[in-house]
Amino acid sequence: MKKSILITGGAGFIGSHVVRLFVNKYPDYRIINLDCLTYAGNLENLKDIEDKDNYVFSKVDINEEKLLEMVFNDYQVTDVIHLAAESHVDRSISDPLAFVKTNVMGTVNLLNTARKYWKDLENHLFYHVSTDEVYGSLDDGGYFTETTPYDPQSPYSASKASSDHFVRAYANTYGMKTIISNCSNNYGPNQFPEKLIPLCIHNIKEKKSLPVYGKGENVRDWLYVEDHARAIDVVFHKGIQGETYNIGGFNEWKNISIVRLLCEIMDKKLGREAGESAKLITFVKDRAGHDLRYAIDAQKINRELGWAPSLTFEVGIEKTVDWYLDNDTWLQGVTSGDYQHYYKVHYS
Ligand code: NAD
Ligand code: TYD
Repeated sequence: MKKSILITGGAGFIGSHVVRLFVNKYPDYRIINLDCLTYAGNLENLKDIEDKDNYVFSKVDINEEKLLEMVFNDYQVTDVIHLAAESHVDRSISDPLAFVKTNVMGTVNLLNTARKYWKDLENHLFYHVSTDEVYGSLDDGGYFTETTPYDPQSPYSASKASSDHFVRAYANTYGMKTIISNCSNNYGPNQFPEKLIPLCIHNIKEKKSLPVYGKGENVRDWLYVEDHARAIDVVFHKGIQGETYNIGGFNEWKNISIVRLLCEIMDKKLGREAGESAKLITFVKDRAGHDLRYAIDAQKINRELGWAPSLTFEVGIEKTVDWYLDNDTWLQGVTSGDYQHYYKVHYS
């Protein structure tokens, strides 16, 4: 094995795309998917690669020190790509401590294990996958660059900012080789339907109301998940130790425009009359402390590492809708049980 890479959170939305890309593209790497399978983790996401020789799954919580050590020993982990996290802003508002436990304490536990196991720190990479939300909220002008000061506004972004700081502290204090990337909002197949795009696709299909927070004027910068996975591959292999790379699609949309676009696309695909699904749009109470706008300046990764998004939003969103319509069993599976309870509590 050339490398033995531990990918945490590999059963989640972005993680599963990263695991698939690495397993298929690098048959001489061992890929260890370490995930404790919270409500957001789903091994169904990886059915197509689960029998590959260079893939293993390990059901471990990143807070479990002893089990983490066993994984590092058993698989002689050479590098880490860390994606495991609590990832939903709304859940962070109702239960901030869960975010501290996984995103902050779990990350520090993982850093400690890596530091203990890797005797020669300069030969190993700890790559931390983070979010643009650490930079706070923009008004109508400007972009987040790699030097924008941190200004997290939600419990989720505060926990991710804290984990970013710990990663940098381990580089500075112990000489650990680290890289961080901060990416904008992802969309695409396998995203849990608590996030805006899959939630709307699911509700349009079921003819349920489409909850738009506030006036729907908030802006997000959307990137297709496979393009994020490609960026992670490029950063992992070509990124410079100690650097930060912002990843984004230069693709800003107001929430209400995205919801309207999904209604139009799905009316056509489902053979409904034009305008039928838009009647489901319902403006609801705004999210507490709702960040107005995120927008990433992704010029550095383009200039220095040669990465650019491969898909336009128009193509990506069609592919996404098609995936959800073609994968009804997946959608039914994740929207039964706990999801019903979450939905009722959050949206009633
Ligand atoms: P997700 O919620 O879909 O998946 C998270 C995964 O982590 C799940 O498989 C879950 O089971 C696992 N996990 C959670 N807590 C764990 C723990 N204590 N131990 C082990 N595994 C645990 O999240 P996502 O959207 O795929 O995001 C992945 C990463 O990318 C996160 O770090 C997130 O902050 C970051 N990110 C996400 C976005 C986005 O738009 N979704 C954008 C930028 C960065
Ligand atoms: P989300 O997908 O939760 O991602 P994030 O909060 O990390 O940006 O939300 C995207 C945008 O959509 C955000 O501005 C909040 C808004 N939103 C709604 O209007 N209604 C909803 O039901 C959800 C989940 C989000």
